[in-house]
Amino acid sequence: MLTVCILVLALLCLALLGRTFLGSVGNGTAGSEGADTVSQSAEVRTDPEEQVGEVEPDATPTPEMISLTENMIHTGDLILVNSSYAYDFEANESTIDLVNIRNSQSFYYQVEKTDYEVAGRMLPSLDQMISACDAAMGTSETGITSAYRSYEYQQNVWDTTAEQNGEEYARAYVATPGYSEHHTGLAVDIGIFYSDGSQGSFSESQNAVWMDEHSSEYGFIRRYAEDKVSITGISNEKWHFRYVGLPHAVYMKQNNLCLEEYLEYLRTQTGAGNPLTVSTSEGTYSVWYTTETSIQKPSGDYRVSGDNIAGYIITVRE
Ligand code: DAL
Ligand code: ZN
Repeated sequence: MLTVCILVLALLCLALLGRTFLGSVGNGTAGSEGADTVSQSAEVRTDPEEQVGEVEPDATPTPEMISLTENMIHTGDLILVNSSYAYDFEANESTIDLVNIRNSQSFYYQVEKTDYEVAGRMLPSLDQMISACDAAMGTSETGITSAYRSYEYQQNVWDTTAEQNGEEYARAYVATPGYSEHHTGLAVDIGIFYSDGSQGSFSESQNAVWMDEHSSEYGFIRRYAEDKVSITGISNEKWHFRYVGLPHAVYMKQNNLCLEEYLEYLRTQTGAGNPLTVSTSEGTYSVWYTTETSIQKPSGDYRVSGDNIAGYIITVRE
């Protein structure tokens, strides 16, 4: 009887233990999953951060916009100045940054007249180009024979040239006052200066050959080439260089485009959604044309130049 009682008690204890153990595993598992589920869903429902997270996809951040003004069509490194498009003195009045070459050059090279000025933003590139040309030639003969010209100065150049060489010659080589790239401060004429003070022929020099080949690396284009006379309206001038900056000069050189052709290409073939991509030794750039007067601010380094016709060129360094 005692044995039976002990056996019954033992069975009862085992049954109780088993329930507790099984219950803890069962509840533990289910409880754990359930708790997690509840806890997760509870968090989703109640955590304010999670709620913010849930509404974020609908709250697209407002893009930062920049306004492009009418004035900006006529200013910048890419403005076209030729017999059809006059230089806009008024639009450029507050932005043209003329500096005296002699006072600001980073190393000594000759300038025909000590009061010659250029746009300060392009002077470092001009210095580097002249320095590299001299280094390649093994001489120090590269210098500047003409730089910024006011309207009155250009009138004087025109009158003097016409007087000395005739009007036909003047029309071929000298822009009408108001229509000269020299007004921009971004154009220079390059010359050869010997140590005895005399000048040589740049057109016949090896410097001209080097400059034609390498000026684009410094952001300059030889503006008036023989094969583009019908487009530019100006005869072959080996000495006249125009700063347009990078990557534009590189692309123009690689594709043999004069400024008129390049701007036309940008206008007809590019836009914010399909920019031109240009890689140079200085980096990769995206370039596109727009007539929009409010555009999304590009991320990273960017520049805006007018074309001096009707629109803007956006240049972004990637
Ligand atoms: N020689 C160039 C065309 C000028 O006069 O601007
Ligand atoms: Zn010139």
